[in-house]
Amino acid sequence: MEQQIVSLIQGLIFNKYQLENALVKLSVPPKKNLGDFAMNCALLARDLRMNPNIIAEELVELLLQEDLILSAEVSGPYINIKISKDIFTESFKSIYSDLELFLQPNIWEGTKIIIDYIGANVGKPLHIGHMCTPNQGQVMINLYKNLWYDVISDSHIWDWGIIFWKLLTAYKHWGNKDKLHENAVDYLLELYVKITAEAVDNPSLEQEARDEFKLLSEWNEDSKKLWAEFTEYSIQAMNVQLARLNIKPQYNVGESFYEGLWLAKMEDYPDLQFDMHSIVNELVEKWIAIKNDDNSVWVIFDDDLKMPSCILQKRDGTHGYLASDLACIKYRMVNWSPDKIIYFVDVRQQLHFRQAFEIAKNAGWLDKDDHKSTQLFHAYNGFVSWKEWAFSTRKGNIIKLGDLLDEAENRAKAIILEKRDDIQWDELNELSKMIGIWAIKYGYLKKSRDTDVIFDWDEFMTFEGNSGPYIQYAYVRARRILENFGSEISTEVTWKFEHSEETDLVRTLWDYKDVLIKSAEMNMPHHICKYAFELTKTFNSMYNNIHILNEEDESKKMIRLQLVESFSKTIKELFAILGIDMPEKM
Ligand code: ARG
Repeated sequence: MEQQIVSLIQGLIFNKYQLENALVKLSVPPKKNLGDFAMNCALLARDLRMNPNIIAEELVELLLQEDLILSAEVSGPYINIKISKDIFTESFKSIYSDLELFLQPNIWEGTKIIIDYIGANVGKPLHIGHMCTPNQGQVMINLYKNLWYDVISDSHIWDWGIIFWKLLTAYKHWGNKDKLHENAVDYLLELYVKITAEAVDNPSLEQEARDEFKLLSEWNEDSKKLWAEFTEYSIQAMNVQLARLNIKPQYNVGESFYEGLWLAKMEDYPDLQFDMHSIVNELVEKWIAIKNDDNSVWVIFDDDLKMPSCILQKRDGTHGYLASDLACIKYRMVNWSPDKIIYFVDVRQQLHFRQAFEIAKNAGWLDKDDHKSTQLFHAYNGFVSWKEWAFSTRKGNIIKLGDLLDEAENRAKAIILEKRDDIQWDELNELSKMIGIWAIKYGYLKKSRDTDVIFDWDEFMTFEGNSGPYIQYAYVRARRILENFGSEISTEVTWKFEHSEETDLVRTLWDYKDVLIKSAEMNMPHHICKYAFELTKTFNSMYNNIHILNEEDESKKMIRLQLVESFSKTIKELFAILGIDMPEKM
């Protein structure tokens, strides 16, 4: 709607001053009765080389001749504009005539994207820090799908390195199959804590771990089998917690895969064509990397990039994290040819990804057949810390994600009981599940992706203001109105909006697509939360101030019911993108 007015004004400016695509920005006037939009002409002063107050006066004269404009008034360099209610009716009719397409607009059909997120470790339980990348990445997966992208998601689990040889060693000494199958991540952590403690007095365990690595890299059958079990059961255990947050990656390709070791394939993804060895050789052949006499391989970047040089291969011929990500980029390009790959990984890895992206670009891996190149983007997250105490995995005293989610449910239960002491046990359980976890998930997602977050229960478990429960409650209200009405909403009406509450809702609904696109382009989930809250406030204001079911005029009533239905479906869709369920009762 705003865009319609912007285009109109740009047309007027072009006709009058021959300035193309003028910078027209509309905002909401400081007071509602001033108008629907305010335009700041100071932004045009430089391009037009004119006094903004004069521009405002001249534009107002032109605006007043337009049918769509109800009134236009100069206020210093500003113009306050009221638009014809017809714009609202036309806009709303177009929304309501195909709600499904409105909710899932076909913006990017045929575009392919890969989302790399979660990045958790085999043998380590998910912890409070996993509120970040799994949640943020999953919102973006849902959002891109909503906009018709073809999405591939991969948890890129970490299953390779010294920790894992130690786990194999520990299991061979003390392992218990039942415990492993019951909850692999908790059990492997226990083993890790044990072997770390034992190794203090018994240094030979370190050597044993290195021998384990050798066995595994020589494809020893027993080691491979055990390793596959660790991975499989760890993924299962992780998925139990992730599922509670509606998180589900399509693939769990481990880092070991890029070693070319064929340990265990968790899902049905293509085989590896280029392992780290061949990748490093290719880069040396292309003069992107340099091999030293001592067998180590390095990349030195152009001075103007201001990036330190980095190592791809150590003297002993082994490769590290960077080589593994490079092999991963090439693998994804060769097999899926995506238009974009987005990494939801924490801020500490910024340099790592800058280096990897630069090398991949120079190697020509990002060039696509259609002369376009694939975009790589690191959507980094800040840290979650805990108000009460710090934690470290080595000692085993982490705040597990599972415990955090349990606690959220318990706290929600207590709050619900305070408000409704007559509630039945079953309903209480169901409701606290529905509210507790989603409250903290929403509380987390509403913060900008790149900021550090301090987890504080009082703030995260709120039912007021910009919170999950506040929005869920408004949804339930809207559903109740529609249920109470109970029949088909007629579209055979005499169109007229009577109250600003109605037009405000139309105007906010109209922003839906733009918000989705902005959130996707910036890979920032919090724009969706912000918008969901705005939309809910606008709906609540209509609910509180004007009659809906009690309205006597049949046309007005039907129009309002259409608005209620549009709100309820839109807010539900927004929550589906956030990966948050909506209760039907509350
Ligand atoms: N497992 C890694 C870590 O814990 C994160 C993986 C991120 N994804 C990637 N393609 N490097 O640091």
